[in-house]
Amino acid sequence: TWTMVNIVEETVTAVRAQIGDRHAICGLSGGVDSAVAGALVQRAIGDQLTCVFVDHGLLREGEAEQVERDFVEATGVSLRVVDASDQFLGALAGVEDPETKRKIIGREFIRVFEKAAREIVEDAGTHGESVDFLVQGTLYPDVVESGGGEGAATIKSHHNVGGLPDDLEFSLVEPLRALFKDEVRQVGEQLGLPADIVWRQPFPGPGLAIRIVGAVDSDRLRILRAADAIAREELTAAGLDLDIWQFPVVLLADVRSVGVQGDMRTYGHPVVLRPVTSEDAMTADWARLPYDLLEKISTRITNEVREVNRVVLDVTSKPPGTIEWE
Ligand code: XMP
Repeated sequence: TWTMVNIVEETVTAVRAQIGDRHAICGLSGGVDSAVAGALVQRAIGDQLTCVFVDHGLLREGEAEQVERDFVEATGVSLRVVDASDQFLGALAGVEDPETKRKIIGREFIRVFEKAAREIVEDAGTHGESVDFLVQGTLYPDVVESGGGEGAATIKSHHNVGGLPDDLEFSLVEPLRALFKDEVRQVGEQLGLPADIVWRQPFPGPGLAIRIVGAVDSDRLRILRAADAIAREELTAAGLDLDIWQFPVVLLADVRSVGVQGDMRTYGHPVVLRPVTSEDAMTADWARLPYDLLEKISTRITNEVREVNRVVLDVTSKPPGTIEWE
C-alpha cells in the first residue's frame, strides 16, 4: 500500500541521515522484528551494516538455519554467526525462576554480543572506519511494556541489547519504534523478505528457555523442540498459520503423570498447547483450533516424542493469563 511504501521510504531516508557514512551493527534474534529492522538498515546503508547472530541454542527447530541461510540470501547482508549454546546452557543450569532465566540469558547475550561487537569495531578500525550505531528491532508495544512510555510499569524485563559497557558506546537506531507487529510484517513484505520470515510467529528473546517450566537442559530442549516442531508442522498443514498470533508449546518439565502405551505403563511429562489470537500481544484470546487438528497434534506428539505422554490445551485469555507461561 502507499502507506507502507511511505513508511519504508521515510525510514530508509531517516536511517541514512542518522548514520551517514559511518557503520552500524545489528543483532539478529531469529524473529521478524530484528530481521525487518536489519533489512531496513541494510537497504539504507548497504555494507556499512554488519549483522550478528548469537545462536544461544534456545531457538526452535530449523530457525538458526533460516537466519544464516534464508535471511542472508534475501538481503545480501554481511553476517557474523556466534555459536554460544554451551555457554548459555552452562549459565542456565539448575535455574527455575523465570525472571532469573531472563536475566541470565540477557547477561550472557550481552557478553557474547559485546565480544562480537568489539571484533567488528576493531576490524573496522583497521580500515579507518568507525562503528557508531546499534540497530534494534524495538516495537511500539515493547516501548510501552518496558516502561519507555508515559511512566508505564515494567511488566516483564524484555530481552534487548541494552547494557553494553561504556567504552563500547553506540547510538541506537530503532527503525520500528513507532510500529505494531502487523505493520512490521507489511514493511517486511515491502522489502521483499521471504514469507517464512515475514510471517513467522513472534518469538521471545529468551526462546525455549521460558517455555520449559523448570530448569533448562539439553535433554528438555530436545523434547520441547520435537513437540513444538510437530505442532507447527500440523498448523501449517491445516493452512492456519495466518489465523494464529503465536502457538507456544510449553513443557511442564517437573510434572509427571501416569499413562499407558501399548500394555506398558508410562510416567511422562505433559506439554501444553497455547495457541492464541491477538492484535499486538497486549491482549490475547485462546485460539479455537479445530478438534481434529488438536487430535492430530496430540497423537503425533505422544507417538513421536517418547518422553511426553499427555497433551493439554490452555484455554485462558490474556488477561488474566499471559501468552507465555513464564
Ligand atoms: P506475555 O507472555 O507477556 O508476552 O503475554 C507478550 C509478548 O511478548 C513476548 N515475550 C517476550 N519477548 N523477551 C521478548 O523478547 C521476553 O522476555 C518475553 N516475554 C514474553 C511473548 O512471546 C509475547 O509475544
